[in-house]
Amino acid sequence: MCGIVGYVSGKEDGAPAIVLEGLKRLEYRGYDSWGMASLDSKGGISTLKRVGRIGGAGSAMVARKLGGGGVALGHTRWATHGGISERNAHPHLDCTGRIAIVHNGIIENYQELKAGLVARKHRLSSDTDTEILAHYIEEGMRRGMGFAEATRSIAKRLKGRSAFVALDSSGRQMAAVRLGAPLIVGVGDGGELFISSDVNGFLERTNRVMYIDDDEMALISFRRGAPGAPKFVSVPRGGEVRKRVIKIGWKRESWSKSGYKHFLIKEIMEQKYTIAQAINQDDARIMRVANGIRNAFGVFIVGAGTAGRVCAAGQYLFSDIAKKHVNATVASEFSSYRHYLTRRTLMIAVSQSGETVDLLDAIGVARSKGTRILSLVNVFGSTLMRVSDESLMLNAGTEKSVASTKATTAQLSLLTLLAYATAGRLKEGKRLLLNTAEQVNDMLNPRYEERLRKLARQLRRSRDIFIIGRGVNFPMAEEAAIKLQETSYIHAHGFAGGELKHGPLALIRKGTPCIVLVANDDTKHETISNAMEVRARGGYVIGIAPERNDAFDYWIRVPDAGEASPIVNIIPVQVLAYHLAVARGINPDYPRNLAKSVTVK
Ligand code: F6R
Repeated sequence: MCGIVGYVSGKEDGAPAIVLEGLKRLEYRGYDSWGMASLDSKGGISTLKRVGRIGGAGSAMVARKLGGGGVALGHTRWATHGGISERNAHPHLDCTGRIAIVHNGIIENYQELKAGLVARKHRLSSDTDTEILAHYIEEGMRRGMGFAEATRSIAKRLKGRSAFVALDSSGRQMAAVRLGAPLIVGVGDGGELFISSDVNGFLERTNRVMYIDDDEMALISFRRGAPGAPKFVSVPRGGEVRKRVIKIGWKRESWSKSGYKHFLIKEIMEQKYTIAQAINQDDARIMRVANGIRNAFGVFIVGAGTAGRVCAAGQYLFSDIAKKHVNATVASEFSSYRHYLTRRTLMIAVSQSGETVDLLDAIGVARSKGTRILSLVNVFGSTLMRVSDESLMLNAGTEKSVASTKATTAQLSLLTLLAYATAGRLKEGKRLLLNTAEQVNDMLNPRYEERLRKLARQLRRSRDIFIIGRGVNFPMAEEAAIKLQETSYIHAHGFAGGELKHGPLALIRKGTPCIVLVANDDTKHETISNAMEVRARGGYVIGIAPERNDAFDYWIRVPDAGEASPIVNIIPVQVLAYHLAVARGINPDYPRNLAKSVTVK
């Protein structure tokens, strides 16, 4: 959460505009306020802060407020400490105005650190945990330390996961410190340097990166025009760390909405081909990974949020297809299972971003027990990919909308393929999924979307929406609830059909919408019975099913996709969620209070 962009070049101007461009691309990490700092011609720091999304803020406006300059820093915020206000927006300055800081993550011991500063009469002008960093660097330098040493000195004292960039205007230096939250250096063709929370902050300009690892800092000095090569230093030890420039293969993608009104619907429609892309993997490698799953003594499949629901579906897929028990766990709860981890255990980590803090913490727990890590991840070069023993890419392309759609079905597709490979039936799995990809392509036509748009208009004033499913479609019912909640803000709840009579049925009143996810498998008849029970109590039953049934007030047809039913069943819910948001006047790309990359606990 929170996006950081820094830029240093030898040129006289242009830096604020370049940082603004990068910030807009990182806005999915947080969008409640934003701010920038740049080095002005007299060597001072100018800042600009605004509440709300960056929106249409243009480079001309930024240049007017900040001037030109070849060095700038920017931040897009997802508030943790301190309300959403210009005063709390980053960058934050020290008492002298010479040090500027942008920060992502949480400083767990900030109260204690802040108390020291207050006692020593520092003038703190925000409620954030971030600001203390500027003042501690100021203090260190006043005591005779160099900027780098002062930065390292406070970095060593911080508790919790975070990353920050400090700009020292007097010494013309920048330090990018990574303490458990992502930060990466980009190396431009002309020697200019970028710092960003992820590659999207600069990928339009360069794909040459230098990774800052945890507990390291990158120091950039720009005393004489163009920056020199960054120097990497270990935070705890102080010694220099050697790094290579790595060219990443991730292709530059179009950042436009390609004619769609929102990224969410664009990404939903991209599922016409992303399912096939997800399973476009090397067969020999998939078989080797599948052997590892088959032979592991205990397999945990772990993810957060939507990815956690995908993992729960994976538990059913491995059981049904490969007769292999895997334990699905949400990342934030994983450490409770640490007693069952050994060197022979395998952890399958599932993530779009590869930066979700709960998942990275879970990896830390697994690593401490010598457990092997296989990751299914979308973002190339992400932390998850780098800490895994083996990674399979989801190949879904950039997912920009906060609500996950195409990455979700890519995860489901790849897990289904792995389950088939584990059963020794890789070819059959590939055939099924390629067929499903074609069916999804046919399904996502304008008439189908129009039907769901009409249903959304009908449901737009609902107070609650319930979703039920059985077997592998139970976690999909939970995922459907996540999608509806985050886009439409309607209370939505997904549960197992069999649980209906153990409480939730009491909430069904006349007209309460209940979406029923049906698969043509051995759960079908019981799921339909549950739909009947809802209808008998006046509920409005929306059946997502391959066949029409009398239990449904409204039928949304999906192809009979066999074991791939979770993929085809969740897609109409995604479309419905999108149109519900639009019908309720909500921007579906930027749900309130949420951010795409959850890097704080
Ligand atoms: C919901 C959603 C989130 C993510 C979760 C994990 O639509 O996208 O629940 O699934 O934050 O994120 P990743 O997959 O990046 O680890």
